[in-house]
Amino acid sequence: MNPEIERRRTFAIISHPDAGKTTLTEKFLLFGGQIQVAGAVKSNKIRKTATSDWMEIEKQRGISVSTSVMEFDYKDYKVNILDTPGHQDFAEDTFRTLTAVDSCIIVVDGAKGVETQTRKLMEVCRMRNTPVIIFVNKMDREGRDPFDLLDELEQELQIGVRPLSWPINQGVKFKGVYNIYENELNLFTPDKQRVTEKVSVDVNSGYLDECIGAQDAKQLRDDLELVAGVYPEFDVETYRAAEVAPVFFGSALNNFGVQELLDCFVKIAPSPRPTKAEERDVNPDEPKFSGFIFKITANIDPNHRSCIAFCKVCSGKFVRNQPYLHVRNGKTIRFSSPTQFMAQRKSTIDEAWAGDIVGLPDNGVFKIGDTLTEGEKIHFRGLPSFSPELFKYIENDDPMKAKQLEKGINQLMDEGVAQLFVNQFNGRKIIGTVGQLQFEVIQYRLENEYNAKCRWEPVHLYKACWIESGDEAELENFKKRKYQYMAKDREGRDVFLADSGYVLQMAQEDFKNIKFHFTSEF
Ligand code: G4P
Repeated sequence: MNPEIERRRTFAIISHPDAGKTTLTEKFLLFGGQIQVAGAVKSNKIRKTATSDWMEIEKQRGISVSTSVMEFDYKDYKVNILDTPGHQDFAEDTFRTLTAVDSCIIVVDGAKGVETQTRKLMEVCRMRNTPVIIFVNKMDREGRDPFDLLDELEQELQIGVRPLSWPINQGVKFKGVYNIYENELNLFTPDKQRVTEKVSVDVNSGYLDECIGAQDAKQLRDDLELVAGVYPEFDVETYRAAEVAPVFFGSALNNFGVQELLDCFVKIAPSPRPTKAEERDVNPDEPKFSGFIFKITANIDPNHRSCIAFCKVCSGKFVRNQPYLHVRNGKTIRFSSPTQFMAQRKSTIDEAWAGDIVGLPDNGVFKIGDTLTEGEKIHFRGLPSFSPELFKYIENDDPMKAKQLEKGINQLMDEGVAQLFVNQFNGRKIIGTVGQLQFEVIQYRLENEYNAKCRWEPVHLYKACWIESGDEAELENFKKRKYQYMAKDREGRDVFLADSGYVLQMAQEDFKNIKFHFTSEF
């Protein structure tokens, strides 16, 4: 593989809110020399109290624009960290970002273990065969027994685990981490909250007893023996095949266990992987450029209403001012000011390689999932829409602004802010979201960016699912029977709006030849 591509590591750090994703990201940036002091990168997470405070959300969204991608060189590697929104209501955004990464680091709170969002994110990783490394954080707090935690990770996340570091005590007695991968001991002094010593030590030597005391030394030896007995030898290929997740322990806040994680990560994490297109698999080191749009972020400043479309380069080299084919609309576009992102800065670039993320100024030509190439008509797959959880009718609240409303809704849906379904029975528009906050975002942005007013009206729905069948007659029969509950999504696909779990279950039983999908990519 081209060494430029080979050295790229494009990944996301994901977690249930509050597990320590922001803190860990920041520590990585410190090691990468992108920031000089901790605390420089603001959390883009929207605090619970902020649900009603729109300006706060706007401010934070602004911050999240500049930290959407963080790039830096570390040792011989080029690291691209893709940020994901911390708030659960924007989970869909996170799922889409995961389509642009080659691997993930999952942060788990050592005291809380696997939480709901961790489970969902892992599901997405599993769907895409994305290799994951798990970082068990907050070891400086009283937590759970590491072996119990490993069992929980394995069961709840349905993946084999292999510890590559091991904690010596935890909470106030936390003394450090034994780096299994490098056979090193890293000692930790809680009151100084920093790494004090890093020693290479043979676990069987008396020096270990000197370092951490006889009792803890014995415990560590016993633990390591058990680890070696229970878990198979670490094999990088099983990790890259997404069968086994290496596990590290540490404390991101105290910068402990972080460098070990980063050092091992760059060594074992995969370089850019092939991307599936409808027509064929596209290899990163193919000479010709191709890429897809996985995220669109609107500029929140109403005076500069431009958007940035984030393009993942899937193959070859992206070059500034080169003509590229926008496959969906068949037009050729040149980009005179593509950008890359470095923590809080962004700068214009001349080229980018497979694995990189390029920011393209967008005045409404892009939709999530669009493909760019040097001319070949391929379509990248793998941007799933999940069945939303909340539904509301969207109504025009200002008859003079119907056009603006239409345009606003369409563009926001192109950006992937939420999903739109049109009920085929009454023609009414239904917006489906993952969380309440998205409705607020839509209403606010329609008003501020499109000068249109909308109103929400309740609609009682349980699930929207995409239906398909090889049996045309049964499909027609179903649509006729359920005509009040049939809708079309923006691609014109048939969607069944079930108003209760019972109705959905009955439908599944009565119409055995129809497939009910809960994600739109099938
Ligand atoms: P998130 O992005 O995953 O939502 O989590 P974030 O990094 O914001 O961390 C959530 C909270 O957990 C923060 O405290 C952070 O300081 C704390 N934290 C992160 N890593 C560790 C760790 O290793 N040990 C301990 N004890 N705490 C840790 P906060 O009070 O919510 O926020 P802040 O006011 O400190 O920013």
